[in-house]
Amino acid sequence: MHILHVVGARPNFMKAAPVLRAITNHGPVRQTLIHTGQHYDSSMSEVFFQQLGMPEPNQNLGVGSGTHAQQTAAIMQALESVLYEYRPTLVVVYGDVNSTLAAALVCSKLLIPVAHVEAGLRSRDRTMPEEINRVVTDRLSDLLFTPSEDADENLKQEGIDRSKIHLVGNVMIDSLMRLLPVAEQRSPQDVTSPYVLVTLHRPSNVDDLPWLQELLTTLSEISSQVQIVFPVHPRTRLALDQIRFTSPAHSRLRLVDPLSYLEFIGLERHAVAVITDSGGIQEETTFLGVPCVTVRENTERPITVSLGTNQLVGHDTGKLSSAIRTILREGFEGNSRKDIRASRIPLWDGHAAERIARILVRCSTG
Ligand code: UD1
Repeated sequence: MHILHVVGARPNFMKAAPVLRAITNHGPVRQTLIHTGQHYDSSMSEVFFQQLGMPEPNQNLGVGSGTHAQQTAAIMQALESVLYEYRPTLVVVYGDVNSTLAAALVCSKLLIPVAHVEAGLRSRDRTMPEEINRVVTDRLSDLLFTPSEDADENLKQEGIDRSKIHLVGNVMIDSLMRLLPVAEQRSPQDVTSPYVLVTLHRPSNVDDLPWLQELLTTLSEISSQVQIVFPVHPRTRLALDQIRFTSPAHSRLRLVDPLSYLEFIGLERHAVAVITDSGGIQEETTFLGVPCVTVRENTERPITVSLGTNQLVGHDTGKLSSAIRTILREGFEGNSRKDIRASRIPLWDGHAAERIARILVRCSTG
């Protein structure tokens, strides 16, 4: 039995790490790890491999950046040869990035079974490239590992055979639970509480320059009430350069380079609030009990709103300011920090990857 994993972009790494480890612990299974090279800066890739304790990839396809078609096609071409060479029994893909879609497409044409980790999430917003990637990857996958009940429902509604769907829980929470104690032991960044942590990188927020400018004005206003730490994604850095935005010296809106996994979860854990457009961060903040304000009109992770700490404010800076004002008022009164609430969402318990490993091994051998 030979399982080949395909990863490519930052949010893949914390999902793949626990699955690789769980399969290793399960017994003698050959595993191969292919990095597409979609993300290539050390701060977006290498440091995550180190901190998550992942093995070196067997091969890095080095595809780099490009338009969606260029990037997806480059991954498909390079991966096809790799799959001919390695001839795995099964390929595991993660999340919803272009590397995920490209790998699922290539495997399905080569008749190699595909397992999709984090299947079934839907924002129902086809303007998001990730939504297209999710829908197509799920349609092509033979095993669909879902993080929550709503994902199962989405897949069933799309007519996907129930026998392919396995509710296993959230692998991202596996990584968070394992490494949070390590992150807590490291000396914190020179950031004093209280602070709000901000991440923005969705094209709908950062490629629309007038809207990005409006968001930055709002963040500057919020920073008069509370310090803001904003690790800047490379896509966002390009946009900030285009509008020539720099934070004034001694400003309480602090723009910093992308953070490592441990630095980030350490800061996230103690933030008074997080403002984001990331999917994974909506999940992590829910687990940590940290209030999360999501600058998007919709979410593919509705459970973080119904059972967690997340609220959507859409493209409305008035709602964003008001949400933060409320959180700060409650936070300063000491009420907002909730206990870690893993138990609130079924199967977000640190053991999702073990469930996946058991099913993969059973399916591949049986
Ligand atoms: C990708 C994913 C997105 C995910 C995000 C996490 C897709 C369609 N999008 O978006 O779902 O949330 O990763 O980070 O797959 N760049 C660098 N260095 C890098 C990587 C990228 O400078 O290591 C710059 C390049 O200018 C590139 C731009 O960032 O053009 C965007 O990178 P890309 O991988 O195309 O998309 P992301 O915005 O990172």
